[in-house]
Amino acid sequence: MSEANRIPRHVAMIMDGNGRWAEQRGMPRHEGHAAGIEPIRASLRAAVRHGVEYLTLYAFSTENWGRPAEEVDALMELFCQCVIHETPELQRQGIRIRMIGDRTRFSDKVRAYLAQAEELTAAGDRLTLVLAFDYSSRDEIVRAVRKLTARVAAGDLAPEAIDEAAFSAALDTAEFPDPDLVIRTSGEQRLSNFLLWQASYAELCFPQVLWPDFTEEEFDRAIDEYARRERRFGRIE
Ligand code: IPE
Ligand code: IPE
Ligand code: MG
Repeated sequence: MSEANRIPRHVAMIMDGNGRWAEQRGMPRHEGHAAGIEPIRASLRAAVRHGVEYLTLYAFSTENWGRPAEEVDALMELFCQCVIHETPELQRQGIRIRMIGDRTRFSDKVRAYLAQAEELTAAGDRLTLVLAFDYSSRDEIVRAVRKLTARVAAGDLAPEAIDEAAFSAALDTAEFPDPDLVIRTSGEQRLSNFLLWQASYAELCFPQVLWPDFTEEEFDRAIDEYARRERRFGRIE
């Protein structure tokens, strides 16, 4: 592997363990989510320092709608506040925000904030921060299939023209490269419906810390671990 390949171009993170962090301290779960903001800033700092080009954060899964309404409401509020407060700083740092997931279920207010954050940061060329909110990989794949089949039905697309590239281009992540490294905190070792297609050849890393305890040093450790991995892509050399 060449030196240039040792820094992942795209890191995707499953930020897990906020609830357990709060429970361990006798706090309500939403306090754990609030404590999960600083590790996002730390990860961004580390990603920029390493020259990572894309950082995707799994912030709210489609399945997370199944949580109690008060937790869902607290997460929506936190997400909006965070986007509003952090956007000017991200803009200054040249960080571009992009969203993946199904936005149709959000309130008009949330949708407007998200669109505004994307617009305001559109010129950022240092790092692309991809926020996966109301995202699930299977849902994304089904929506992509609908888009493609609608084009086939309209006579715009021949079925034989649907190859891996055409399918990737119909996903929410069309404009991003596949993740090289997926990090999940909290010790759980599963993908929970995250980037199933895109992470086909990603290296997986499972630090034991809960998300609110994740630091720049933890990010550095994951990058070091990635650099030691041998990526083969099915080949033998
Ligand atoms: C991750 O932390 C944040 C979201 C899923 C929104 P959790 O809330 O899943 O925390 P645990 O897994 O219950 O500790
Ligand atoms: C995955 O975490 C989703 C996010 C981190 C946003 P979950 O806590 O929802 O996943 P499971 O339930 O442990 O699989
Ligand atoms: Mg969890």
